[in-house]
Amino acid sequence: MELGVNIDHVATLREARRIDIPDPIAAARFSELGGADSIVCHLREDRRHIQDRDLRRLKKSVSVKLNLEMAASQDIVEIACAVRPDQATLVPEKRRELTTEGGLDVIGGSKRITRVIKKLDAARIKVSLFIDPDRHQIKAARSAGVRMVELHAGNYASARGARNIKKEYSVLRKAARYGKSIGLKVFAGHGLNYANIKRLLPIKEIEEYNIGHSIVARAVFVGIEKAVREMKALIS
Ligand code: PXP
Repeated sequence: MELGVNIDHVATLREARRIDIPDPIAAARFSELGGADSIVCHLREDRRHIQDRDLRRLKKSVSVKLNLEMAASQDIVEIACAVRPDQATLVPEKRRELTTEGGLDVIGGSKRITRVIKKLDAARIKVSLFIDPDRHQIKAARSAGVRMVELHAGNYASARGARNIKKEYSVLRKAARYGKSIGLKVFAGHGLNYANIKRLLPIKEIEEYNIGHSIVARAVFVGIEKAVREMKALIS
């Protein structure tokens, strides 16, 4: 199983002072040394962490897959087509949210999403959709023309009590199996950490995990290379 390391929160710390440290590009380099299979960043419309310049520098320096999380908005699509990361993951975005809340509504926004997928495709950027682990959304993603989806693991990650955790785990597992059965590559992410990832590992249909906050949080104490290495060891 592959590990995508989201480095947004290294930039969050930098933006707290609006200076140039810590540098998310250095974080990406150390994450690669720790075994990251891809580097993930989210260029938000409000630019609260990753900046345009970071994305351009990451494109130059990252040697594994660069996965750009982005809203399906015209400005950001133009930036993506100019910079050309290896992959774009379309996510919903709200200004006032603390982090991405819920998956993309592919059913409700199918026209716009399909148009954006075509644009990114034309720029030879692979496209993934970040969606809830819901059969209808997965089916709609396939119809919209993508080959891969990232399942929102947030409900699983925030579930409390054995019964709820088991229920949300089953939802994810069922969704992963369904996605794979209709020919999609299935990834998962959001809210995953060194403890809650373990239960998911038997779900072989999930090929990649994208993890940010828990890795960056651990990196404060042990350094990002070691924090990534530990997560990579867990999921391998
Ligand atoms: N995947 C997607 C699509 C996300 O939006 C995020 C959060 O930026 C993550 C994964 C990583 O989530 P977390 O920071 O909770 O590990």
